Amino acid sequence: MTTIAVIPGDGIGPEVTAPALDVLDALGLGVRTDVLDHVNADTYLRTGHALSEADLDRIRPCRATLLGAVGDPRLGDTAYVRSILTTLRVELDLYVNYRPAKLWHDRLSPLRDAARRAIDCVIVRENTEGLYSGIGGSTRTGTAHEVAMDVDLSTQHGVARVLDYAFSVARTSVCLVDKANAVRNGGQLWQRCWHEALARHPHIATSHLYVDAAAMRIATDPTAFDVIVTNNSYGDILSDLTAALAGGLGVAASANLNPATGQGLFEPVHGSAPDIAGTGAANPFGAILSVALLAEHLGRADAADAVRRAVAAAVAEGHVTRDLGGTLGTKEAGAAVLAELERP
Ligand code: NAD
Ligand code: IPM
Ligand code: MN
Repeated sequence: MTTIAVIPGDGIGPEVTAPALDVLDALGLGVRTDVLDHVNADTYLRTGHALSEADLDRIRPCRATLLGAVGDPRLGDTAYVRSILTTLRVELDLYVNYRPAKLWHDRLSPLRDAARRAIDCVIVRENTEGLYSGIGGSTRTGTAHEVAMDVDLSTQHGVARVLDYAFSVARTSVCLVDKANAVRNGGQLWQRCWHEALARHPHIATSHLYVDAAAMRIATDPTAFDVIVTNNSYGDILSDLTAALAGGLGVAASANLNPATGQGLFEPVHGSAPDIAGTGAANPFGAILSVALLAEHLGRADAADAVRRAVAAAVAEGHVTRDLGGTLGTKEAGAAVLAELERP
C-alpha cells in the first residue's frame, strides 16, 4: 500500500492539514498516512532539531509527503525553516517546484481590467539551487565591518533539468525569467542552457523576460503566460504574485517533484500565518488543492479533477473563508468541499 508522510507543522499548518486529510480520505485512493506531528517548532525549541535522520528514514520510502506549513515567530526563520523545508527539497532532490495559478472566480481577481483577469499559468521554480544553496558565510559578524555572503548557485545539470521539465508541462508556451543583464555568471549559464533547451523543444513558443519586467507584465496581463520557468528565489517571489492574482495565498497549491525518482512533497504556497493562527480563519483550499496535486502524482487525475471541481463549486456558492470574501471558518470551508465531493 502507498504511504503518504504527513507533516502538519506550525501555526495554521495543522489547521489546514486536517481538512486536507479528510479530502484525501474521501478520495479513497487506498493510501495510508504516516503522520510526523512532532516535526515542528516546539520540538526545535526543545531539542535544537525538528527533522531527524530517523524522520527522513520514514519519509524517504514514501511516494509523497503532505506538509501544512512551518515557521514560528519565536524562532529566527532561516535555520529552523531551512532545517525542514530546504532539507526535504534537497535531501529528496525535489528539483521542480510546480506552482499552478488559475483564477477560481472572476470576483476574486484584484485586476481592474476584466479582459486580463483569467490567469491560468504555472510557475516552474528551480528548487534545490540558487540563493538557497546554503553556501556562504559572514565574518566580523555583528560589527560595523560585517561582511555577509550567500552564494547564488547554478549548475548546468540543475538548470538543464528544470528547463526540460518546464517544456514537458507546457501547453502553449514557456517564458524564461532571469536577470542575466545584471547577474553575470549564473545569467550566462541559464542563457546557454535555455538556448540548448530551445533546440531540444523546437515546437513550443518561447519568450524571455528579465524578472523586473516579468513582475510588471504578470501584474498587468497574467493571461500572457502559460509556463514561467525561473530560479529558486524569483520563483518564490513570483509565485506569491501569481497566487494573489488567482484568488490569494489561501488557495495556492504546490508540488515539489523529482520526476526521475517519482517522489513528491505537496504543500500550500502559504506559510504558517502566525497573524491568524488559532483563530479558525485559515483558508484550507491551498492545502486541499495540494491533495489534488498529490492525487495526480499518484496517477489519479480523475480524483484531482473531482477535488478541483468541488473547490470551484464551493467558491462559486460563496462557501469560503474570509480571505475570499466569505464568512466560513477553516472547518466549515473544508466541510463545504467534502459535501461537494460527495454530491452524486
Ligand atoms: P504567510 O504565507 O504565512 O502569510 C502571509 C499573509 O497571508 C498573512 O497575512 C496570512 O494571514 C495570510 N495567509 C496565509 N495563508 C493563509 C490562509 N490559508 N488563509 C488565509 N490567509 C492566509 O507568510 P509570512 O507571514 O511571510 O510567513 C509566516 C511564517 O511562515 C514564517 O515563519 C515563514 O518563514 C513561514 N513560511 C513557511 C512556508 C512553508 O512552510 N511552505 C511558506 C511561506 C512562509
Ligand atoms: C515557500 C516559502 C519558503 C521558500 C520559505 C519558508 C523558506 O516561502 O515555499 O515559498 O522560500 O521556499
Ligand atoms: Mn514563498
